[in-house]
Amino acid sequence: MKNQQVVFSFTDENFQRDPAAVFASMREKCPVHHATAPAPHFSITRAEDVTKALRDEKTWSSKYGPGLAFSEPGIGVLVSSDPPEHTTERKAISRIFKPSVIEKMEDDITELTHTLIDSIADRKSGDIIRDFAAPIPLTVMCWMLGTPTKDIELFRSWVLPMAEAVAYSGGREASDEVKNAYQDFFAYFESHIENRKEDIQSQEDYPEDLLTRLLTVTHEGNQLPTKKILGFCQFLLVAGSETTTLMIGNILHRLMENPNQFDLVKKDQSLLPNAVEESLRYDAPVHGLFRTNNQEMTIHGVKMPENSKVCMMFASANRDPQAWDEPNTFDITRDLADLRNHASFGVGSHYCLGAPLSRLEGTIALKAIIERLPKIRSNGPPTRTKAGVLKGFSSLPVRWD
Ligand code: HEM
Repeated sequence: MKNQQVVFSFTDENFQRDPAAVFASMREKCPVHHATAPAPHFSITRAEDVTKALRDEKTWSSKYGPGLAFSEPGIGVLVSSDPPEHTTERKAISRIFKPSVIEKMEDDITELTHTLIDSIADRKSGDIIRDFAAPIPLTVMCWMLGTPTKDIELFRSWVLPMAEAVAYSGGREASDEVKNAYQDFFAYFESHIENRKEDIQSQEDYPEDLLTRLLTVTHEGNQLPTKKILGFCQFLLVAGSETTTLMIGNILHRLMENPNQFDLVKKDQSLLPNAVEESLRYDAPVHGLFRTNNQEMTIHGVKMPENSKVCMMFASANRDPQAWDEPNTFDITRDLADLRNHASFGVGSHYCLGAPLSRLEGTIALKAIIERLPKIRSNGPPTRTKAGVLKGFSSLPVRWD
């Protein structure tokens, strides 16, 4: 197939304005796209190709990390590891994310959403990202990592620049803001982890949370090195909070834009999970993440040399007409089981461990808005997130009666 090029870059204004249109051109004209900036990489956009590659982890490795830059192999946990390490790590860590564990958070998350709405309800307008969508997952993350919830503002100030760095090509490109975010994160978490280790050793009172699990889990008789735990906490902070914030913003944005669909879910709350899932399909919070091929690969006539960074475009797979009927129609009445086949949480062995948690957060958040602010509507243009690999808003002005 002729590799007819389409201009694509995560940071290109044209792509940011209408990613679905650019993905449609890529799927049609160059399903394996090659770009040289900001560093050489390929992008795979057709649903069938994305799924096939993500299920073949022998060829498509995660060892150099999910970002465009090559990270040091062997340092990352889960998202940056391959079997057999990945299998063992996943077995150990997945227990904390099991639906039965996550469901126990339902009441606390519901209370949190109502407290947040209590604090804004009388104001009649505001930025629903700042006041609602951001604090929910950040607070949940504090619960899981055992940090004080008052620190969510601090965490958010690190998460945003860190998320931007996923599409960077390497250290030189990183701004002072990104470097400072990493430095401050490591200083904070090194001390937090040391304190928890001491509590565990001296059998002080300590929570049985995710951090304790990371510190006590053994892999072939050995505990995870602190460096890996730190890296995993950093990944979680971005992966678990900003993605879910964007998802909540995207759900509300799309429903406000489609009042008929909003009415459907207001009248029939059994559609809440469908609304969350259709939003995930239609507006994937993560456009795509990278793999590195262990051998030269040729797909649709495009040769990818061994060790190329190749982006698997989840968002494009979700809009592929070969995989979905009317993919560009936002329709919350689609069958829920079918909808869950979207690629927004990844595909295969690295499928998002936080999916049950973010689904729960999204459903509870939407339910609270419908119950408490049913007349919510747009109040001016939203601001898109600056992180090129992500889709959603850093600010979404709304008003209500
Ligand atoms: C809407 C919200 C979210 C989206 C769109 C999302 C998306 C993703 C995607 C696409 C992957 C696959 C990575 C890959 O294939 O390289 C992934 C993996 C992962 N996610 Fe999420 N995520 C979300 C929320 C969360 C939350 C809330 C948590 C935890 C609190 C979380 C934890 C993880 C972990 C630990 C992995 C790595 C799994 C592995 O490599 O085995 N995510 N996520």
